Amino acid sequence: MVHILEGPTYDIIPQLKKKYEVDTLDFVFIDHWKDKYKPDTQLLEKCNLLRKGSVILADNVIIPGAPDFLEYVRNCGRYDCTNYPSMLEYMNEKDALEKAVFRG
Ligand SMILES: C[S@@+](CC[C@H](N)C(=O)[O-])C[C@H]1O[C@@H](n2cnc3c(N)ncnc32)[C@H](O)[C@@H]1O
Repeated sequence: MVHILEGPTYDIIPQLKKKYEVDTLDFVFIDHWKDKYKPDTQLLEKCNLLRKGSVILADNVIIPGAPDFLEYVRNCGRYDCTNYPSMLEYMNEKDALEKAVFRG
């Protein structure tokens, strides 16, 4: 069963625990506005929605790019990161996904 929650991340994420009875997240696919990747990752942390092994997979980290997110997850010491090169859809341009596994 899939439960779709409509709304901006900054509204939905803080409601997940109490309103939607989410304990922690196993997998988070991030594919919205690129300047929101870092603050939303930090909001997930602040709301205690990540557990050891929670996987964040972020798309298009090269084009349009999310450099502040990459700098954060790779250097804050809380994630094990792997970069997966890809091609931008419909274009002959190099892009990538970043997998960040929360260390707990
Ligand atoms: C590149 S689309 C990707 C959508 C989907 N992942 C897909 O592949 O079809 C990005 C979407 O994120 C939405 N978006 C941007 N900022 C958001 C936010 N803070 N909260 C929720 N959605 C947001 C945009 O309106 C847009 O529909």
